[in-house]
Amino acid sequence: MHDSAGWSARCCTSATSKRVAVGLLSSWLLVIVGLFVSGCQSKPETRTYRIGFSQCTGGDEWRKTMLTDVKRELGFHPNYTLLYEDAGNSTSRQISQVQSLVERGIDLLIISPNESKPFARVIESVFRQGIPVILLDRKIDSESYNAYIGGDNLQLGRMAGTFIANQLKGRGRIVEVWGLPSSSPAQERHKGLQEILQKYPAIEVVKELNGQWERDTVRRVIASELDGLKNIDLLFAHNDVMAMGAYEVYRKAGLEKQINFVGIDALPGPSAGMQAVTNGVLKASFLYPTGGEEAIKTAVRILEGKSVNREQILNSIQVDASNVYALKVQSDKLLAQQSDIERQSHRIEALTQTYTSQRNTLYLILATLLIALLLGGWALYLYRSKQIAYQTLEKQNQEILDQKDEIERVSQQARVATEEKLRFYSYISHEFNTPLSLILTPTEDLLGKKSIAPHELKNGLALVQKNAYRLLRLVDQMLDLRKSDVGKQHLRASEQDLVAFVREIVFDFRRKAEKQRIDLQLITPLNRLLLWFDAEKLDKVLFNLLSNAFKYTPRGGLIHVRMELLADQIRIQVADNGQGMSSDERDHAFDLFYSGSQPFNLAKGIGLALSMEFIQLHRGDISVQSTQGEGTTFTILLPLGNSHLKSDEIVPASSQRTLPRLPIDEDADASLQPASLPLSKRAGTLLVIEDNDDLRTFLTMRLGGEFEVIAEPTAEQGWERTLEVIPDLIISDVMLSGMDGLQLTQRVKADMRTAHIPVILLTANRQMEHQIDGVRAGADMYLTKPFNAIYLVETIRTLLANRQKGQQRFASDFVSQSGGSREEKKFLNELTRLIEHNLSDSSFGVEKLSREMGISRVQLYRKVQAQLDRNVIDYINDIRLKRAKFLLRETNKSMTEIATETGFSSAAYFTTFFKQHTKKTPSEYRKSPIEA
Ligand code: FRU
Repeated sequence: MHDSAGWSARCCTSATSKRVAVGLLSSWLLVIVGLFVSGCQSKPETRTYRIGFSQCTGGDEWRKTMLTDVKRELGFHPNYTLLYEDAGNSTSRQISQVQSLVERGIDLLIISPNESKPFARVIESVFRQGIPVILLDRKIDSESYNAYIGGDNLQLGRMAGTFIANQLKGRGRIVEVWGLPSSSPAQERHKGLQEILQKYPAIEVVKELNGQWERDTVRRVIASELDGLKNIDLLFAHNDVMAMGAYEVYRKAGLEKQINFVGIDALPGPSAGMQAVTNGVLKASFLYPTGGEEAIKTAVRILEGKSVNREQILNSIQVDASNVYALKVQSDKLLAQQSDIERQSHRIEALTQTYTSQRNTLYLILATLLIALLLGGWALYLYRSKQIAYQTLEKQNQEILDQKDEIERVSQQARVATEEKLRFYSYISHEFNTPLSLILTPTEDLLGKKSIAPHELKNGLALVQKNAYRLLRLVDQMLDLRKSDVGKQHLRASEQDLVAFVREIVFDFRRKAEKQRIDLQLITPLNRLLLWFDAEKLDKVLFNLLSNAFKYTPRGGLIHVRMELLADQIRIQVADNGQGMSSDERDHAFDLFYSGSQPFNLAKGIGLALSMEFIQLHRGDISVQSTQGEGTTFTILLPLGNSHLKSDEIVPASSQRTLPRLPIDEDADASLQPASLPLSKRAGTLLVIEDNDDLRTFLTMRLGGEFEVIAEPTAEQGWERTLEVIPDLIISDVMLSGMDGLQLTQRVKADMRTAHIPVILLTANRQMEHQIDGVRAGADMYLTKPFNAIYLVETIRTLLANRQKGQQRFASDFVSQSGGSREEKKFLNELTRLIEHNLSDSSFGVEKLSREMGISRVQLYRKVQAQLDRNVIDYINDIRLKRAKFLLRETNKSMTEIATETGFSSAAYFTTFFKQHTKKTPSEYRKSPIEA
């Protein structure tokens, strides 16, 4: 108990830990999947955009700053990608670059078009394709754009004009250097300037030059026209780089001090406009913001679907000596902050990269783990399915094995049933043969006699009649059995007084009971009881139960029949205090073919099987309680009334068949007494072993006239008697309960003391193999029933005569090398060896010899007599004489020496004894010639 509890506890623990493991595994899986999914989900939330940006830098600082501003602002929008194109100074290249950007796929275009007109068409086409367009700093001759971002160039021109007017105090000569005339800022700046200067007629624009926004162009143009341009007060260029380029030319000519230079842009940085104002190179400049930052902000709003201002005009201020310092400090700070921001953003970028790569690594690890877990789960699943498949296979295998066992069991049952049937049939023939023998044998015997005494005739006929009745009963039982077998047994019940019926049957057995001194009683409180029953069948049942009881109850025992009324049944019990049954016999008492290890018993076998059949026909029940050595009780229960009977099972009482009951067996002893002959006349002692009382008695009587007959009913008792009397011949039935005839024969032939005794086996079985079995067991003759009594007597005589010859052969030479069984030779060898060994002992005789042989004196006498046909003492003397003769002939020993050596107490007695047996004295024998 403890163990199994521990085991189940272990099982539960392991089951729990399995569940925990599976739980942990699945929660891990969930966490990982969650992380993975959330990691992946954050990405699609922020859509990525591609912004195309096109401008013509021509190596220009302002344009570089614009690009820097764009990129810096983009740094705040990691989901925006910049596709940047720089066309140098070429309008046509910028147009083709715009087309290529569109082809590569952009979500929005920021363009600072080199010139106004040439871009109208291409930008309109981009706009029509649904790609938002932001014009930065310069305009086009079209309204197809989403936003314009840039300074107010007209206003810048005006501011410049105002400054110039103030600076020149309304009088002076100036030169205007244009940016690219086809670009909108150049045109507007010029226009603004004109607007103001118109108010100052004393200010004369002596020359307008085309600087194309480029320092080098300006240097070249001014250098080529310097002579005509020396006498001026101020030079205004549309941007700072052109103003500084002009300054360089004038400085080279040493004219720079007399001229004021004014530009636009006021870009911070060491070589840009703001520094030039600080250095006094430029008199003034006007802040012209790049709008790069605003362009990106606007682009983001557009792409996020938010509204934007279409015209975003950036503010401008004048930068001159009065504010340049403050502005420079500011812008320097701004620049420093900018570079700080850039540094920070680089760091953020680096950290972001690290974070991204770490995150990717983590995802990779998690993904690997997930795959490993999935594979593990898959493997587990495969393992489980394999296990289940294996278990299913094992189950099927077990089922097949069970079926095989079942088939084997059924075939074993069939084999046993067949064996039981064969045994049954062999017993049936035995059972028929015994009464037949007892009819035929006395009949032949009587017929063979010349004159018959009246008592002999009566005894013989009584035996014949009795066995004829026995045969009749057997045949009747067989017919009943046959009917049962084919289901033809039919109940014919009528209402009768059961008490009277049972009393009558019990009464029939009273004589038998008296003879066997058995206390037979019918015990019942009932005087009369009307019951529906089939008298013929119930008669057979009760007769059978009582016959059995008598068969197994010893003299002086008791057989009580009880009848009691129960609630709705009548109970009849037949109880005896006889030998009882073994538990095996009891369990199979009603089985027709079962007889366990015992030979089949017809009285029990057919009788009880039929009784069961008949009682069941009455819808009743029959059972048995039995204890070996204490007795047996059969109990019959029969239902009252007739509601359980079918209409065709009820017959009028008068139509009941009542067969005359066969006479109840009585001991044959009284009628079959062996004729007593004086013992001296007997030709030998025969032991008859036969369980059938009549046959045993008949054989005893029939053979008693010629032989001394001892009879025993069982092989066990027979064997005891064999050892006790060493009979001259044994006649045994083969089929005996307990040890059978074959086993007995084997035992007789294997024992040194009895091996010489001839055995005749009697059997009902005519089959050759049974006869061979008998011969193999060592039987000298095998007679099948019914046998002829005269033939039996002749057989006995022949066997005894043969034995006689054998004895003579042994007697002629003490230890014969031929003839006799192994056991017989062994016996003689041992006997002779012991005698020769003790030959010098004069007191060695039958007493000592039987003790050394391990058998009784009587057995020794009988055995030596049987085997050598001589007395033991004579045999000892024969050996003494033989030895003496040898010593006389072969040695020179004295008479005294020879007498001592051969066990004679004196030489004189030796001489007398020798003369008596050889008709010669020892001396005469020594001298006489050797006989042939
Ligand atoms: C640069 C530049 C600037 C000027 C702007 C006008 O190419 O010439 O100096 O302010 O363009 O578009």
